[in-house]
Amino acid sequence: MFLFEYIKNPRSVGAVLPSSKYLAAAMINAIDFENTNCIVEYGPGTGAFTEKILARVHPSTIVILIEQNPTFYKELQQLYGHKPNVVVINDSAERIKDILFEHSITKIDYIVSGLPFASLPKAVSDEILTRTSEVVGNHGTFITFQYSLLKEKYLHSFFQEGTRKKVLCNFPPAYVLTYKGGNE
Ligand SMILES: C[S@@+](CC[C@H](N)C(=O)[O-])C[C@H]1O[C@@H](n2cnc3c(N)ncnc32)[C@H](O)[C@@H]1O
Repeated sequence: MFLFEYIKNPRSVGAVLPSSKYLAAAMINAIDFENTNCIVEYGPGTGAFTEKILARVHPSTIVILIEQNPTFYKELQQLYGHKPNVVVINDSAERIKDILFEHSITKIDYIVSGLPFASLPKAVSDEILTRTSEVVGNHGTFITFQYSLLKEKYLHSFFQEGTRKKVLCNFPPAYVLTYKGGNE
């Protein structure tokens, strides 16, 4: 399914395979699951990170999955839509502020992103990262991954602090980039 969706939408799917369990583990490593009210995931695809998040998350933590691709959305809805603390949304991460407003969520703790910033149109990335920086504010954390460091400076420009970790056990190997300090 993933490869087929990549062939149909290469720029927005951005990868030929789902992320490995090693990359998924590194993506959620910084999350303090005991003290989290709301986690948002951008671009969950077939659920590589979602699976790990939901295995650890407290039942009272709200998890919002924002997936633009209708095929992935349907699959996610089937897999996780029945869970009382999970909201699956077929929309673009560009609308994060409206989505939070529509669900009466005023504060998020973590945004975990699978979005392919290297291949998305710059205007789309700019909009997503500007809105993300606003909702992350001083309190939240934005976690994303990239296959190269070409966009690292660009991503960092939306936040005050950033760290990176390389994950070799993924095809291709990837960097997990973690940012704090957005512009409220
Ligand atoms: C590289 S795949 C990552 C999938 C999954 N997180 C993983 O790591 O295996 C990128 C995902 O982002 C989704 N996507 C792309 N642009 C999006 C947008 N603007 N809003 C929400 N999802 C988007 C794609 O449909 C795809 O599912």
